[in-house]
Amino acid sequence: MVANPSIGVCYYPEHWPETVWKDDAQRMAALGISYVRIGEFAWSRLEPARGDLRFDWLARAIDILHEAGLKIILGTPTATPPKWLVDEMPDMLPVDAEGHTIGFGSRKHYCFSHRGYRAECERIVTALAERFGKNPAVTGWQIDNEYACHNTTRNWSTASLLAFRQWLKQRYGTIDKLNAAWGNVFWSMEYPDFEAIDLPALAPTEHNPAHSLDFYRFSSDQVVSFNRLQTEILRRLSPGRDLIHNFMGRTLDFDHYKVGADLDVSSWDCYPLGFLEDRSDADQAWRRRFARTGDPDFQAFHHDLYRTTSNGRWWVMEQQPGPVNWADHNPAPKQGMVRLWSLEAFAHGAEVVSYFRWRQAPFAQEQMHAGLLRPDGVEAEAFSEIETVARDTELLGSSGSAAANAAIVFDYTSAWAWEIQPQGREFDYFRLVFDYYRSLRRLGLSIDILPPDAADLSRYKLVIIPGLFTWHKNLVKALEAYKGVALIGPRSGSKTGDFSIPERLPPDLPEQLANVTITRVESLRPDCPVALKEGHGKLRFWREFLVASGDCKVEIFSRDGWPVLVKQRDLHYIGGWPDERLLDTVMARLTGEAGITTCRLPDGVRLRRNGDLLFAFNYGDDPTELEALGLRGTFVLGTELLQPAEVSVIRT
Ligand code: GAL
Repeated sequence: MVANPSIGVCYYPEHWPETVWKDDAQRMAALGISYVRIGEFAWSRLEPARGDLRFDWLARAIDILHEAGLKIILGTPTATPPKWLVDEMPDMLPVDAEGHTIGFGSRKHYCFSHRGYRAECERIVTALAERFGKNPAVTGWQIDNEYACHNTTRNWSTASLLAFRQWLKQRYGTIDKLNAAWGNVFWSMEYPDFEAIDLPALAPTEHNPAHSLDFYRFSSDQVVSFNRLQTEILRRLSPGRDLIHNFMGRTLDFDHYKVGADLDVSSWDCYPLGFLEDRSDADQAWRRRFARTGDPDFQAFHHDLYRTTSNGRWWVMEQQPGPVNWADHNPAPKQGMVRLWSLEAFAHGAEVVSYFRWRQAPFAQEQMHAGLLRPDGVEAEAFSEIETVARDTELLGSSGSAAANAAIVFDYTSAWAWEIQPQGREFDYFRLVFDYYRSLRRLGLSIDILPPDAADLSRYKLVIIPGLFTWHKNLVKALEAYKGVALIGPRSGSKTGDFSIPERLPPDLPEQLANVTITRVESLRPDCPVALKEGHGKLRFWREFLVASGDCKVEIFSRDGWPVLVKQRDLHYIGGWPDERLLDTVMARLTGEAGITTCRLPDGVRLRRNGDLLFAFNYGDDPTELEALGLRGTFVLGTELLQPAEVSVIRT
């Protein structure tokens, strides 16, 4: 846990008469709020016509908030270019794969590659940073808002096409190299020069996967450089301030590690009920069960992921406080959950949990989205829970760190590769990784997420590498030096970086690490799983045929006699997508071999260790006796009987 975790709120002074700002600020401070994020969509008020900069209202808002003792996270307004700007250069608008221009009228209507728009962003961010960069109230900046939101990473505009060709030139140097790397001899796809290459869209059948993957990589790099453009200005003009971006849940279109490398703090926008409704692979029964609490693992996964993307410092920038407006169904959270979600973030090491939004807007797109206040200014349901959170943070104080002894590698390129070439409809990378993550959480483990180029695994007892597209040399070296237990597969190391099958065949590891070869793969209908011997469960969706030699021994066989789990020293390879039963068997074995203490948790109960504090969360419907799970110590928060939607924190 960081020193004194704090709470924050998202506020839009431009939505409210100036006469209420002071009262709002004082009420925020009285609630225990420390940080206020403002300004991220305010371009039309900051510059109503080209060059007509009107920053005075923002300066007054900042002063008023600051006088109440609040610290400001100032948003750059580049997610919402104003109409006059779009009318000046309509070719900045995004274009979809079918050639439709995505128009003005909501937000995120820009193409990352458009040079004119980039120049406009530089101009407005520079002006804001010159005016507010050294203001003592401004302690951080949020850059843009939710990259990738509303599917905006990949763009088929002319600006994108021209930039893509440049990017390819840089990557390959000559067209012959590109043709060879992509395998363009196949189907006579060879290109005479870079200018002949198009963006992958609208072909009779699938595009060359190497072409698509490079387009995905390029699109991700455009986000990275767009973000960097702003971080460079802000570092220069606003020294010492935290540079932050707010990521989203299950959003894979750009490499968050690369954006995170230019930030001080990663943050994310945590909407547990919206995500369960819109972004979950769970079956209907599970979704019904957790409809008012959110999935017990989804938030935790993102907390762990974003803790890594900027090296340990992370926040929740937007926390769901009530019903949202954007999912298929928008239930209200169960009483207690807003507090539970907040404390869960702190358990995973968040410095700040900030709620979206202060007061519900009575107008425009999000009028059905709850805030901490109703549109009439009266406290909404979450308000009293947040009062409790403010008190909780004082009781928690600060302690150790959110480090874990098990880790899972998570890689954006793999997500793109298997989206491009799933080979079986169900092969979704996020889903695969999340299955592993959930199975470890069911055993009570705290988990770190690692990037695909992790160079040091030595602090972990258990490392899992599912579905990794291709090996980074750092990770192979780290595996060679690693003394703990590892589990690799399925599909890990099954391609080269150019999207071809590696010469020595998957998993493409040195023999001394894993003397196993995958000779054939098949994907499976969901109703045709492969049964395993000794009741070990089944493989679903995906199965590999393994040939193990030398020191590599078979641990689990399929009923039809093929190796499924093999082991060489402490490294295991699994040739398929394990069902829940197999996952439980394998995880029980691996944690046993790794010497990690586990405890089998009820479906809705989860744990997270942070320093000497052990947090227990109940997403379920039944009370749980923590002592019966072997959890003892001094209770800092809560009690031995963990009620639904409650949190207990034990000092052990
Ligand atoms: C986020 C976004 C906010 C607001 C919120 C509503 O995705 O950053 O601006 O739209 O969702 O839930």
